[in-house]
Amino acid sequence: MHIVGFSGNLSRPSRTRTLVQAVLDEASARGLGTTALYDLIDAGPGFGQTTERSKVQPEVEAVLSAIEKSDALVVGTAVYKGAYTGLFKHMFDQFDMTALARKPVVLTATGAAPAHASVIDYHLRPLFLFFDTLVATRGLYALQPDFETPDRLVESFHARVERTVDELAQLLQVRSGKTSS
Ligand SMILES: Cc1cc2nc3c(=O)[nH]c(=O)nc-3n(C[C@H](O)[C@H](O)[C@H](O)COP(=O)(O)O)c2cc1C
Repeated sequence: MHIVGFSGNLSRPSRTRTLVQAVLDEASARGLGTTALYDLIDAGPGFGQTTERSKVQPEVEAVLSAIEKSDALVVGTAVYKGAYTGLFKHMFDQFDMTALARKPVVLTATGAAPAHASVIDYHLRPLFLFFDTLVATRGLYALQPDFETPDRLVESFHARVERTVDELAQLLQVRSGKTSS
């Protein structure tokens, strides 16, 4: 299995990227598969000008293609104005509506306000249900106190990462046909 992370951060270091990486690291430690992480910076500075998939820059196509070929996806976004970042949505606007069908997806986000944990259920979940993905029931939302530094989650947060990866493992079993959805 190959698990791809995509983080909608616009700068590095990034708490969102750190959160997605933590989920990938736990998945890797459990032997669930190989992992790779991409973010909006990997898509290059011209990504916002992309309007047609056929005309995207090679670095954008590399990210899109990695997402499409993955066996599972861990997505993350910083909360901007109560929702996902515009460029996070723009990335997923490039896909055909069937491109991600039945792919397990874990939803994560970081923000400054506890109330905006709702981004998981009001913004991310409808987007990934539109794509007919296997969306994990529980999302993972981290606030600034959940990080020691932007590069490092506090130790006590790890139990939540583990619980998230428990569900990812179950979804991967569904994908591989070992159990039913
Ligand atoms: C333009 C902008 C808008 C933001 N809007 C919100 C918001 O509506 N709600 C919230 O909880 N945090 C908001 N934040 C805070 C970020 O979501 C938070 O700092 C996040 O962890 C940053 O992630 P990053 O380190 O990956 O960039 C905003 C930050 C910026 C820069």
